[in-house]
Amino acid sequence: MQRLAARTEGFADSGIRRMTRLAMEHAAINLAQGYPDENPPLAVRRRLAEVAMDGPHQYAVTWGAPNFRVAIAQNQSKLMGLALDPDQHVVATDGSTEAMMAAVLAILEQGDKVVTFTPFYEAHRCDPRLLGATMAYVPLAPPDFALNEADLAAAFAQGAKALILCNPANPSGKVFTRAELELIAAYCERHDVFVITDEVYEHIVYRPHEHVYFASLPGMFERTFSISSLSKTYHMTGWRLGWVIAPKPLADAVKSIHDFLVVCPASPLMEAATTGLLMGDAWYRELREFYTLRRDLMLEGLDRIGVQHTSPQGAYYVLIDIGSFGFSDDREFCEELTCEGGVAAVAGSAFFLEGTNNWARLHFAKAPETIYEALNRLEAFLRKKRQKRNKSRE
Ligand SMILES: Cc1ncc(COP(=O)(O)O)c(C=O)c1O
Repeated sequence: MQRLAARTEGFADSGIRRMTRLAMEHAAINLAQGYPDENPPLAVRRRLAEVAMDGPHQYAVTWGAPNFRVAIAQNQSKLMGLALDPDQHVVATDGSTEAMMAAVLAILEQGDKVVTFTPFYEAHRCDPRLLGATMAYVPLAPPDFALNEADLAAAFAQGAKALILCNPANPSGKVFTRAELELIAAYCERHDVFVITDEVYEHIVYRPHEHVYFASLPGMFERTFSISSLSKTYHMTGWRLGWVIAPKPLADAVKSIHDFLVVCPASPLMEAATTGLLMGDAWYRELREFYTLRRDLMLEGLDRIGVQHTSPQGAYYVLIDIGSFGFSDDREFCEELTCEGGVAAVAGSAFFLEGTNNWARLHFAKAPETIYEALNRLEAFLRKKRQKRNKSRE
């Protein structure tokens, strides 16, 4: 029998989604995979019910239904301070995940170098690697994840063709400041690299932090594929709707690749989701309040039970420091916490370079009562483990 492609060797499915399967097996509260227990806005669900009867149910234009792209262009033009044309600059995709793959396929070839930051979101390293590209990492160290120019310079010095920027970042919760983004932009210009942004948490940013769109910086639109999606903003991770915004030549390349990856996003869902896109700024404000409440509950709860943690500026994840809990590594901690403690978390080593194994990631996109219950379970689990350790020392 022929061998499978070399790219499949050592290539595993996502560690995050694996924890979801384990959580389901053990009926654990799933704080591993980042999706909310909230429904999309009521107006969107009502429109979906109408669409079920009236359509559309057939293929849409490959790069997205016109009214869907018009709504994206209107919103993002205002937010990004750009004059976006729905036909030239917007490609509607099957979530930001497909958008990221289409963008890397448009840019990268075997042997190319990609700069990204660590800790990173899994796809930002897996997608380039599938195409035979290699990574140059800029380390951002907990707890504040500050950017150090010497590290940035060292990564660019490796001869990068592209940079992937996750902002607000998962799992660190870092929101890059304007000054940091300007510094990154200067390096991108000097080294003439393409930029792919992942801004799926653009509306989940905690005061006083503010999101700055990389493509809005002077001169950056021309080299940037700005990626985002409706998944996190409208509580619709299962709808798989997102976009790439880019200048025409870059958007054209993405359109052709996207056509052969998926043909088009689901047309009934684009039609219903357009209702959400038209809800405007009031919805974004509500979303910020929604997650601020949950973040505060989670961080106060962790303080109360004596667990050290990061302080997210955006997105809906917190990294807890498990270094002193007596586990040999973070995977063992997360598996035991899921199976015995009833709370699923993701081992930090899914996001950090080798050698960092004292972090676990929890998300807090859950109802307040579920967050309380998860914290109670975490506390009970840690107490039990501590007692067991003390006993074995006696
Ligand atoms: C940083 C980041 N990018 C992309 C995604 C996937 O988003 P989508 O549902 O738009 O594919 C996630 C999901 O957790 C994420 O955290």
